[in-house]
Amino acid sequence: MTNSKLRVLLTRRWPQAVEDAMAQDFELRVNQDNRPMTEAELAEGLAWADVLCPTVTDSVSAELLGAPNVRARLLANFGVGFNHIDMAAAKTAGVLVTNTPGVLTDATAEIAMTLLLNSARRAGEGERLVRSGRWQGWHPTHMLSTQVTGKTLGIVGMGRIGLAFARQAHYGFGMRVLYCARTPRSDAALQGLPAQYRSLSELLAASDFVSLHCPASPETHHLINAQSLALMKPTAHLINTARGDVINEADLVDALQQGVIAGAGLDVYEAEPALAPGLLDLSNVVLLPHMGSGTTQTRVAMGECAMANIRAFAAGEPLLNQVV
Ligand code: DGY
Repeated sequence: MTNSKLRVLLTRRWPQAVEDAMAQDFELRVNQDNRPMTEAELAEGLAWADVLCPTVTDSVSAELLGAPNVRARLLANFGVGFNHIDMAAAKTAGVLVTNTPGVLTDATAEIAMTLLLNSARRAGEGERLVRSGRWQGWHPTHMLSTQVTGKTLGIVGMGRIGLAFARQAHYGFGMRVLYCARTPRSDAALQGLPAQYRSLSELLAASDFVSLHCPASPETHHLINAQSLALMKPTAHLINTARGDVINEADLVDALQQGVIAGAGLDVYEAEPALAPGLLDLSNVVLLPHMGSGTTQTRVAMGECAMANIRAFAAGEPLLNQVV
């Protein structure tokens, strides 16, 4: 096989089945320690490999990509979001970048729904109460929460994941769906979902639940801050499965402390795995450890998707999911 000598470096462990398949075709190196590689290790990796496969925990900076000894010609990212890679620097350095869209859509939408239900119905608080041994039994006004069925959901960023989540919410829970995006979607793009386009401020004011599905970019950095949170209903819940820095986390802590909004469900954070001061002390926030795509099925599919891009690269064919 012509591509048998292509050097591929995985910065973290991947599902075993995909690692095994990769090892058949390529000269494969894997960061066996399964911790984020240091900057020096990444620099070494970029100098050794033809293809580096980063994840969200690797910051692939302009400095790394601009080093004179970079051998890598492809960054096959394990994930759909690529805000941890300096895309302008990759372009300048002539390094291609691919991602893994599509395969994680349903899994991530499921985690958004998990957070929405959990936040609205106070499931995390309830579970903590039962585990504490302090639950004193049922009574009519115990742990009252917010019903989800029939409420209004505002989707910020109507891409694949936003649409999948909106469909779950509308068809599963009879929710009315509003969305904001750079441009209104056609009926065909919405796959018949009766979702209504709104400006961000209109959406924030009208929604009982707001869920973020936009990519991280300079335009979306701190899109949700003290001003935008103040536009939301005091009964509303904010859900984030996109990227942490779409929310000003310190402003969110203040808003949750002061009752500006009722609750939040977060899977992603500004400085993962660190959390903004005060977040852990709040009972009206549900905190998950960036597990949106974390089903076995999806992580295998993400690996296979990255591998398909590497195979296309090795064969000199058009890349399937090229983002730069
Ligand atoms: C993604 O695919 O973007 C997930 O958040 C993991 O990086």
